[in-house]
Amino acid sequence: KILILDFGSQFTQLIARRVRELNIYCEIHPFNKIPEIDDSFKGIILSGSPYSVRQEDALHFDFARYHGQLPILAVCYGAQYVAHFNGGEVLPSSTREYGRAHLHYIEKANPLFKQIYPGSQVWMSHGDTIASIADNFEVIASTDSVRVAAYQISGTHTYGIQFHPEVTHSIDGRQLLENFLVDICGCSQDWTSDSFIETTIAELREKLGNDKVVLGLSGGVDSSVAAVLLHQAIGKNLHCIFVDNGLLRKDEYQSVLDSYQHMGLNIKGIDAKQRFYDALAGISDPEKKRKAIGRVFIEVFDDAAHEVQDVKWLGQGTIYPDVIESLSVKGPSATIKSHHNVGGLPDFMKLKVVEPLNTLFKDEVRRVGKALNIDDNILGRHPFPGPGLAIRILGEVTPEKVAILQEADAIYINNLRAAGLYDKVWQAGTIYLPVQSVGVMGDERTYENVVCLRAVESLDGMTADWCHLPYDVLAKISNEIINNVKGINRVVYDISSKPPATIEWE
Ligand code: XMP
Repeated sequence: KILILDFGSQFTQLIARRVRELNIYCEIHPFNKIPEIDDSFKGIILSGSPYSVRQEDALHFDFARYHGQLPILAVCYGAQYVAHFNGGEVLPSSTREYGRAHLHYIEKANPLFKQIYPGSQVWMSHGDTIASIADNFEVIASTDSVRVAAYQISGTHTYGIQFHPEVTHSIDGRQLLENFLVDICGCSQDWTSDSFIETTIAELREKLGNDKVVLGLSGGVDSSVAAVLLHQAIGKNLHCIFVDNGLLRKDEYQSVLDSYQHMGLNIKGIDAKQRFYDALAGISDPEKKRKAIGRVFIEVFDDAAHEVQDVKWLGQGTIYPDVIESLSVKGPSATIKSHHNVGGLPDFMKLKVVEPLNTLFKDEVRRVGKALNIDDNILGRHPFPGPGLAIRILGEVTPEKVAILQEADAIYINNLRAAGLYDKVWQAGTIYLPVQSVGVMGDERTYENVVCLRAVESLDGMTADWCHLPYDVLAKISNEIINNVKGINRVVYDISSKPPATIEWE
């Protein structure tokens, strides 16, 4: 495997994904919490950083300790760091060093540039540049404005590059990474969904033995894939719990429960709608709603888990970005909304935690899910927030509003599917606004509520753009909702991006 040392760059996760796309396993660790280097590590990649090596508080690590021990590829800040603290000089760069550039010189026989030829386009993004390098460093590639675009410490397997091979604008970035990983580090490209499933199931069996595990399913991709892996490892010793909180989409509880049963999971469905509605009565503050839902979920889940005799473990669908976030150089990022994901660990349950997906990115979880033959109906689902429709009903939640929103939402989603748009949209949902407006139905004046349609494109939910849905589809949805959903006489479409808006309204 490959060790990626994170100095806080926004591109670090992208480096990891590129390495894994080459079927090579890698782990990201903060530059100041480096794990013990054993034989399983074949090379190190140093990431970029928002810091400058010239700053007083530049991020330091013990380069000398690793140089020569394993091949090193230092990217951007990493490259500047190694150059600067080994006899070279780093200075502020001119604006010409942003964006696209071309490597007009490449050292012909250098293994890092195998099958990469002069003229290759690369992507630069740095505020500093390497002005000079020590005598034992050798320039192995240059652009018109950057002489030291890439270097090698002579006679060693330490390389530095000032451009970003992980972004697609660096046309030969993938080739460069493959050259480093396969030819220089000697990694084999055998990390695939199938190999992941095989080793994970073996590890789970070893770890869990004959112990029982409880796991809260949410209908989402992560908890479903985690459940199927655990199920394949320990069969009936996995006890799944699926809670109907009364805040799911129309008919979702039954259809998801059916899918899970069909997959052979040992699952218990719990109708707790009323407990959630009772807890939400009179609350209109979004964070208080989330807290109430989180609390009731834990109570319901805990009751159900206690019915399983001698349970020792809590299974969770935690994925790698959550783990990285909690370990990150900058610390967990500021909480804008508290996200109570279904299955949050109730401390008092005193269970050990097992998280079979905590080394995978979201797209890898989907691929593993596919390899496990999980239904497309579950794998292809839009993300759906744990507190569900409660945060799509602005203001107080009542069962009546939930019923109205479920109807409107079902019309919206069915139309997206019928128009072939569902899979093109990253997330869609309907929001019930606490606003009444005047309308006319036949000869009657109406005074009813407004629903808002939301559809966004996104990669990971961190940023998002509103979808330009075709007008005719919007028109059809609006007509159907207004004609069929009693209580709604107006439909609007949300055209805000994130940031500055968020995807949900609460
Ligand atoms: P925002 O609204 O913050 O949403 O732009 C980003 C993503 O997170 C989901 N979301 C939640 N998920 N519990 C969850 O499990 C929550 O409380 C919650 N709030 C927002 C949202 O649906 C989107 O995918």
